[in-house]
Amino acid sequence: MMHAYTLKAPAKINLLLEIIGDRPDGFHELVMVMQSVNLADIVELQPLSGDRIELFCNHPQVPCDQSNLAHRAARLMQEQFPGKGGVAITIDKKIPIGAGLAGGSADAAAVLVGLDLMWGLGLTQAELHTYAAKLGSDIPFCVSGGTALALGRGEELTPLPDLDQLYAVLAKYRSLSVATPWAYKTYRQQFSESYARDPEALEKRRREGHSVELLAAISHRDSQKVPQYLYNDLEKVVLPEHPQVQEIRDLFQSFGALGTMMSGSGPTVFGLADSRSKAELMATQLQTALPDPDLEILVTKFCSSGIQLLS
Ligand code: C5P
Repeated sequence: MMHAYTLKAPAKINLLLEIIGDRPDGFHELVMVMQSVNLADIVELQPLSGDRIELFCNHPQVPCDQSNLAHRAARLMQEQFPGKGGVAITIDKKIPIGAGLAGGSADAAAVLVGLDLMWGLGLTQAELHTYAAKLGSDIPFCVSGGTALALGRGEELTPLPDLDQLYAVLAKYRSLSVATPWAYKTYRQQFSESYARDPEALEKRRREGHSVELLAAISHRDSQKVPQYLYNDLEKVVLPEHPQVQEIRDLFQSFGALGTMMSGSGPTVFGLADSRSKAELMATQLQTALPDPDLEILVTKFCSSGIQLLS
């Protein structure tokens, strides 16, 4: 008898996102350092008869049809493992949407992990990553979480030492979102002359690019140094387009954040602190400087896990 599963699906921030070249599949060659944070959606899966897939979400702007990544994850699993049945997916949305925090990717990762459990498939982490990569570039990371180096499209993962002593204040205007394809397309229009053009040049950028200092700081688990080496190429296209995002970044800097950066394709900006009290103070300072009810400010902690089974 199959029963229901409830999973925790953490958001991610990018400590580094470097665009180093084009790929034949139309995507970009990336070097990223991804970090899970404690802000998480809760995803519940219940078995259904037949091959029905139903999706419910308490956030009015989340589509509940086949365009939702969580729905597509369930469909992919049904195609791979026919006859296992249907599923009702209920998403309790805590991660801001269209934010650069991989909320949709995290939900899809939770569906993959949850159906593996519900259907007793015993998939390995590598098999889960393969299915995840078919759905989106960030989804393999969302499955395993923690701190990781991500190469290729973002799906080639190497786990890194945990950085679970840092706090991130996340700030995002609710009414503002950035379409990831727009951010990458605009970057290509403006900066493609800087792309590496052959495998040797790509490898050199991977080995000698912006990630060198950050990876060294992470390997020493140096929480003071890590925030000094944050990097995100997509800031070059998103910040000029959205000055209010630049403003948040400047404010975090003036409040003495250990580091501040836009996450992914934005528009969420995060400021880092080494204690909860400092993070909460920074959140209050930001709220006071920008008393706009449209601005969502969340205090969260780095976490070392991806999808977790709650019950
Ligand atoms: O893989 P995912 O669906 O998250 O990617 C969203 C969009 O971001 C892609 O359609 C593409 O425009 C862009 N992208 C890219 N290179 C990557 C990852 C994403 O150009 N490595």
